[in-house]
Amino acid sequence: MIRLGIIGAGAVAHFHAASAARIINVELAAVCDLRPESATSVASPWGASTYTDYLAMFGEAGLDAVIVNTPHALHLEMVLAAAEHGLHVLVEKPMATTVADCDRMIEACRDAGVSLVIGQIQHFLPEKLAAQDVLAGGELGRVLMIRDYRTTDYRPGTRPAWFFSEAMAGGGALMNIGGHCLDRSIWFGGAPVESLNASTHKRFGVPVETDGAISLTLRNGVHVSVVVVSDATQRTDEVLIVCEHGTISCSPHSGTLVRSNGTTRTVWEPLPEDIQEGFFLQLVDFIKVLDGGTPKVSVEHARHIVEVVLASYKAAGTCSPLVLGPSGDATNTGRVLSEVP
Ligand SMILES: NC(=O)c1ccc[n+]([C@@H]2O[C@H](COP(=O)([O-])OP(=O)(O)OC[C@H]3O[C@@H](n4cnc5c(N)ncnc54)[C@H](O)[C@@H]3O)[C@@H](O)[C@H]2O)c1
Repeated sequence: MIRLGIIGAGAVAHFHAASAARIINVELAAVCDLRPESATSVASPWGASTYTDYLAMFGEAGLDAVIVNTPHALHLEMVLAAAEHGLHVLVEKPMATTVADCDRMIEACRDAGVSLVIGQIQHFLPEKLAAQDVLAGGELGRVLMIRDYRTTDYRPGTRPAWFFSEAMAGGGALMNIGGHCLDRSIWFGGAPVESLNASTHKRFGVPVETDGAISLTLRNGVHVSVVVVSDATQRTDEVLIVCEHGTISCSPHSGTLVRSNGTTRTVWEPLPEDIQEGFFLQLVDFIKVLDGGTPKVSVEHARHIVEVVLASYKAAGTCSPLVLGPSGDATNTGRVLSEVP
């Protein structure tokens, strides 16, 4: 039996807890949150004990693994402590707020001999899996370009206060929501990012970006366009994948559709339980890793997403395109936007 703990009993904790309850060799043993009532609301349906201090939970609850589900800048200290206590870790996205923190997490878990997996949920959502199946089947040929558009809401009061703190969240809509777009688009596109340009905007008087656009070229030449907009007229979350012999559109609202030779077919109809299913498949993957399996999503992919978001901030701040070096260093091309051909 794997004894699992959760740190952070906020918005997504219930998805993790309900997933644990469906896996036969997993027991949700303990939940920690600074707010005891939040910990209790996640723990009590499953009979788990509660804590307000995660170090006390690590010391007393006899855990094998922990899910870190807290504000982004806290992921580092919690992963380092978990590694020190010999616990395997599943960390919510984004992995951390700096690339250096990602590296420290990877190194600490490697040195301690524990598994580190990042919750890149896009790789487990049923409609995304359906799109990936079509791509892998080969009928549409190579991916040529991807357009990824997602709306969100970063108006004051729409989410917990820490999301508006650059120090705690590492950024705004692009770090939080754009990270999902990058996760799936880099996956569908099939290669890491080579170069990018970006534009970010702070509206509603909040200190982090509320809207942003990133134009990326992957190392295989695929072009990706990511746009995240706050408080848009219509709620949208759609990836459009343009391939040699057709297109795929993929959305949690309308499912996954394939268009080729003038005909459209649906390969995934959205279901109300799709999001919960994604969290379940993600946890199943994590538990397999504890049994010696390879994670579906590498920590390098998760680290790359943080690196790309931070490079986007740099590009937006300097109004200049960036090339990502093999080590991930983002180097300005030295051209200002108006000079780019
Ligand atoms: N995979 C997804 O689709 C998805 C969706 C939403 C959020 N997330 C990610 O999940 C993480 C948490 O986001 P959320 O929306 O649940 O945030 P949230 O604010 O709702 O919950 C965070 C919780 O952490 C607790 N917390 C803060 N500091 C703590 C500490 N030192 N010890 C114990 N508990 C502490 C807070 O009290 C709060 O209850 C973030 O990384 C976020 O980006 C992922």
